[in-house]
Amino acid sequence: MTDVAERLRELERGGLRRRLRLIEGPQGARVVLDGRQVLLLCSNNYLGLAEHPRVREAAAEAALRWGAGAGASRLISGNMEPHRQLEERLAAFKGYESALLFGSGYLANLGAIAALAGREQVVFSDELNHASIVDGCRLARAETFVYRHADVEHLAWGLRRAGGRAALIVTDGVFSVDGVLAPLAELAQLARRHRCRLMVDEAHATGALGPGGRGSVAAAGLGEEVDLVVGTLGKALGSYGAYVCAGAELREYLLNAARPFVFSTAPPPPVPAAALAALELLEAEPDRPARLQVNAASLREALAAEGLDTGGSETQIVPLAVGEAEAAMELCERLLERGVFAQGIRPPTVPPGSSRLRFSVMATHEPAELRRAAKLAGAAARELGLARPAAMAA
Ligand SMILES: Cc1ncc(COP(=O)(O)O)c(C=O)c1O
Repeated sequence: MTDVAERLRELERGGLRRRLRLIEGPQGARVVLDGRQVLLLCSNNYLGLAEHPRVREAAAEAALRWGAGAGASRLISGNMEPHRQLEERLAAFKGYESALLFGSGYLANLGAIAALAGREQVVFSDELNHASIVDGCRLARAETFVYRHADVEHLAWGLRRAGGRAALIVTDGVFSVDGVLAPLAELAQLARRHRCRLMVDEAHATGALGPGGRGSVAAAGLGEEVDLVVGTLGKALGSYGAYVCAGAELREYLLNAARPFVFSTAPPPPVPAAALAALELLEAEPDRPARLQVNAASLREALAAEGLDTGGSETQIVPLAVGEAEAAMELCERLLERGVFAQGIRPPTVPPGSSRLRFSVMATHEPAELRRAAKLAGAAARELGLARPAAMAA
């Protein structure tokens, strides 16, 4: 039996013990966290839709009309009008023949990968892919080839080695820990050459990148070259749950073979109804993603001016490299004392020695408050010896 108390002490010693913080009121750019007003810089509510009045109303109306729960899995008796409507709208938005909802992005990745990479086959996964992809690969009966981050040469080598056993290449579209983009055009070429499927996780790209917020696949000018895109409804779309967009036959297969779809209760009706309202707002107000990226660029510039290293981030996810977990958490606390909340990200989310703060920008932040947050981050980092003095930074 695992000694739980000892394991917790071990996590504490390594600076790895996690704790819950409490947000009062709705998600937004400014929130009350554990009783104090802070600027929220680590929410994936990128477009401010989680607290949008129309999205809240849609959830409330759906609860009144359809009830609070779906009662069963979609394949038993849980398939309801809000699920169908949202799937149709998502497929049209993403330019795919069809879409299939899942309980969460974690479950969508688990289900799709395990269904598409079987025994005797090989699945190819970027080393910085999200944990849900890693777990999907673990669950699949296929062999997993983990290629070096965004290294298409390494991937090509692995594909050649696998020969006819290559089943699936899977990548984050925007990498969740460093905000960089996957080399999608090259991955699509390799997938075609080696006759295997390509799956892109658009969790941090939908609503944030590409024309009208259609995501990283659309931003790369790709479409049918990507066999399936996974996206979550819990980030830019302000709700909860997730979807896979794919051709109709692939959807039909996943509906039969993806175990988290088959063996789990359908999302409660208010959840797809809220996501549908968010999607309608995104389509009606397509400048939201552009505002998000302008804000992200302002924060990156302001952090660089403070002498802080934001790696190669090209998106609204802006990491601030620290190193050890304890130092990242100390920086997080010092910044929190100054009224800015950006969570420290540590192992196992990132490899040991690469802990960081991760800023997640929202379209609803004011540019001035982002510049102020960067200055405060610079001051906190300098206190800890983690940044060059401000005079040398400019
Ligand atoms: C890249 C990526 N994929 C999948 C997920 C999981 O999505 P969800 O939060 O809907 O389970 C996340 C986020 O948590 C993510 O960052």
